Amino acid sequence: MIWTRKSLLSIEDLSSEEILIILDKAKKLKEAKDSQTYSLKGKRIINLFMEPSTRTRVAFEIAAKSLGADTISISGEASSLTKGETLKDTAMNVRALGADAIVLRHSSPGSPLFLSKVVDVPIINAGDGSHEHPSQALLDIYTLRERLGNLKGKKITILGDILFSRVARSNLWGLLKLGAIVTLAGPSTLVPLEFQSLGARVTHDPKIALKGADAVMLLRIQHERQKASHFPSLTEYANIFGLDRKMLSEMKENALILHPGPLNRGVEIESVVADSNRAVILEQVANGIAVRMAILHLCITT
Ligand code: CP
Repeated sequence: MIWTRKSLLSIEDLSSEEILIILDKAKKLKEAKDSQTYSLKGKRIINLFMEPSTRTRVAFEIAAKSLGADTISISGEASSLTKGETLKDTAMNVRALGADAIVLRHSSPGSPLFLSKVVDVPIINAGDGSHEHPSQALLDIYTLRERLGNLKGKKITILGDILFSRVARSNLWGLLKLGAIVTLAGPSTLVPLEFQSLGARVTHDPKIALKGADAVMLLRIQHERQKASHFPSLTEYANIFGLDRKMLSEMKENALILHPGPLNRGVEIESVVADSNRAVILEQVANGIAVRMAILHLCITT
């Protein structure tokens, strides 16, 4: 199978074969094989980030530069969107300025899909509201495969604010497509039973969620998307659902700890656990460069 997509909008859209094309290409790029073959020299990539970002924006910038492309980042506050310009007009103007691809982060679910229909260049979804964050899930899955091998039958728990998490949704689609057994866990107000219909196991008991897991992915509470309080206090959340040394000691001996960042130390994860040798959080971040190189090269050269 070959890659035929111009844009990367979601993991839900992708087949398992397409996911593996990206991951295999990322592996070659990480190992610096064929780096000349994968040049994007002369291409111009615009990062349009309408929400804050550290990891995703910087990794896309480094990925583009590593492939020889020019890259320019625009943040929401510094753009003419603040003067009433529409997202469509902004994208069309960026296109007129010579963009060969647009990497978009936006608070509205579906905004990358919308842009892909009105602008004739690849659109890469860098996070759209609570919908999806495909490049994050791909780097998470890359890291899991690097550590655990084939994910078929592996037990992966995602613990935290699932309801408002685009990372959880993208990972759920990707992990299930690769044959992993996925458990979603957290307070009942943040982990609806409806996720079972997508193929996930759902529990509101962290002990059940962590028992036998090969890896746990922790998620922060997405205060910026919540319009109401979903639990009594952060202290209470940390006491019940935060991964501390005691909970870690009850997990499988080699179980991995992942987190997409940004971390809220002392809430979803105890600080010493985040810094322990069981955590692969910074490996995830570093793998994000090769994964995004693969995404950019596949989409721009299709
Ligand atoms: N994981 C993630 O999307 O981090 P940033 O918000 O810093 O890009």
